[in-house]
Amino acid sequence: MSKLLPVDPFDIVVFGATGDLALRKLLPALFHRWRDGQIPDNSRIIAASRDSMADSEYHTLANTHVDAAPDSEDWAAFCSQVRYVSVDATKTGSGWADLKDRLDPDDNKIRLYYLALPPALYGPISAVLKAEGLCTPNARIVLEKPIGKDLESARDINRAVCDAFPENNIFRIDHYLGKETVQNLLILRFANWMFEPIWNSNGIDHVQITVAESLGAGKRASYYDTSGALRDMVQNHLLQLACLVAMEPPASLGSDAVRNEKLKVLDALRPIGPAEISRDVVRAQYRSGAIEGEPVAGYTDELGKESETETFVAIKAAVDNWRWAGVPFYLRTGKRMSSRRSEIVIQFKPVPHDIVGAGRLHPNRLVIRLQPDEGVKMMLMTKDPGPGGLRLRYVPLNLSYADTFEENYPDAYERLLMAVVRGNLSLFMRRDEVEAAWKWVDGIIGAWDQESPNLYSYAAGADGPSEADVLLKLDDREWFDGARY
Ligand code: BG6
Repeated sequence: MSKLLPVDPFDIVVFGATGDLALRKLLPALFHRWRDGQIPDNSRIIAASRDSMADSEYHTLANTHVDAAPDSEDWAAFCSQVRYVSVDATKTGSGWADLKDRLDPDDNKIRLYYLALPPALYGPISAVLKAEGLCTPNARIVLEKPIGKDLESARDINRAVCDAFPENNIFRIDHYLGKETVQNLLILRFANWMFEPIWNSNGIDHVQITVAESLGAGKRASYYDTSGALRDMVQNHLLQLACLVAMEPPASLGSDAVRNEKLKVLDALRPIGPAEISRDVVRAQYRSGAIEGEPVAGYTDELGKESETETFVAIKAAVDNWRWAGVPFYLRTGKRMSSRRSEIVIQFKPVPHDIVGAGRLHPNRLVIRLQPDEGVKMMLMTKDPGPGGLRLRYVPLNLSYADTFEENYPDAYERLLMAVVRGNLSLFMRRDEVEAAWKWVDGIIGAWDQESPNLYSYAAGADGPSEADVLLKLDDREWFDGARY
C-alpha cells in the first residue's frame, strides 16, 4: 500500500532559484516528490531570480544537482511544470507581471513563496508581495533559517513578514525538524510508557547533544564567517533538539500544542552571561589537519583572511524548571570534526544500590543516532553467559533503521515542502520560538563581546579542542562517542 499522502494542487515560487539552496536542495526535493507521484499535474513550479535566462537554460542548470539524466523522459515531464522568471523581488514593477502570468489565476489555490535568499531580504520581499496583491488567502511564505543574526534583527524580520502574512501562513524552516529521526523523538518519548516516568532529574544524570560535521565552511566561508557555529547551528538545530528532549508532553501533535511546549523550554534556558561564559562555553576554530587520511586546510586558509569566528562550540546549558533541575544539557557542534554524526545521548543515573559489587555497573544510556546510521541504542547491563562466576557486560539493545525499515524515506526538505502544502505548522518554528532562541543566544554573544574569552583551536579531524573535554571533566563526565559503543 502506498504511504504517500496526496497533497492539493499548488503553485510554488522559489525566489533565489539560481542559488545554492535552491539548486542543491529544493529542486531535487521537488523532483523526488514529483517522481513519487505526490505533486499533482496542475501544480506549477516557478523559479525566480534576477538573472535573465530562458526556461530551458534553467532546466539545464537545475539538472546539475538532480539524479535524472537531462534527456530522460522523467526529467522532461518534470520540467514541463517548471518555468523560469526574471524578477527583482525587492522592487515592485519589472518582472512581477511575468511572474503573475505564470501563476494560476485562481486566487484560492495554495501558493508557496519560498525565500531561498539572505534573511535581510525577507521583510522587503514580503512588502512587495503584499503591494503586488499576491498575499492571497492560501498563500504561504517559507523562510529559511537564520531568521536574522540576533534578537533585534529577528524581531524586525518577523514584524515585516507578519505585516504581509498572518502567522499561520508563515513557515520558518529548521530542516532538522524534517529529519525522520528527529520526528521520531516525540514518538519515542510519548508513545512509549517506559521512558516518561524516569525522564527527569530523578532518572537522568545529564544529556549530550552532538552535531558533528566533517565538512568545512568551504564555498560558504564568506557567509559562515559572519555567522559562526553558535548562530549557524546552536540557535536553531541544537536548541530545537534540546526542546524535543526537554519538553513536557503536549496534549496532541497539533502545531500549537507542540510549539507551546517547546517555547517553555526555550524560556526556561538559564541565561549564560559574562560571569559564566568562560566556565560554561568553549569556542574554537579548526586549523589544518587531516580527515580520513586526507589533508585539509585550516579555516582561515579557506577563508583567505584572519578571523575570530568560531567553527566549534560546546556549551553546558541548564533548563531551569522542575523536571530538569540539576541536569546539565551539554551541546556541541563543529565543522571539520572526525566524522559526520548527529546524536543525542541520555545518560541515566546509576541504580540506587549496587547488588553486584562496587564499580561493576554502568548506568543505562540511551543513544539516539540522528544521522548517519539512524537508530536508537539502549545500553544495558547484562550477565555474560557461561560458567565461571558472575561476569557482566554493558551491551546495546539496538534498533537500527537500516535493518528494521526497508524503505528509503524522503529527505528533510521533501518532507517539509509537502508539510507546507498541507499547512502542517508543527514542523516549523513559530515567531516567539525563534525570538526566545535568539534571546538566549544573544546572551552568549554579548558575553563574548564583553569578555573576549579564548578562541581555542583544534586540528581538522579532531573532535574539537581539549578544552571541550575539560568542560565535562570538571563535572566528572566525558563526551560519549557513538563509534565507541
Ligand atoms: C545548515 C547549516 O543549517 O545545516 C550548515 O547552515 C550545516 O552550516 C547544515 O552544514 C547541516 O545540516 P545536515 O542536515 O547536513 O546535518
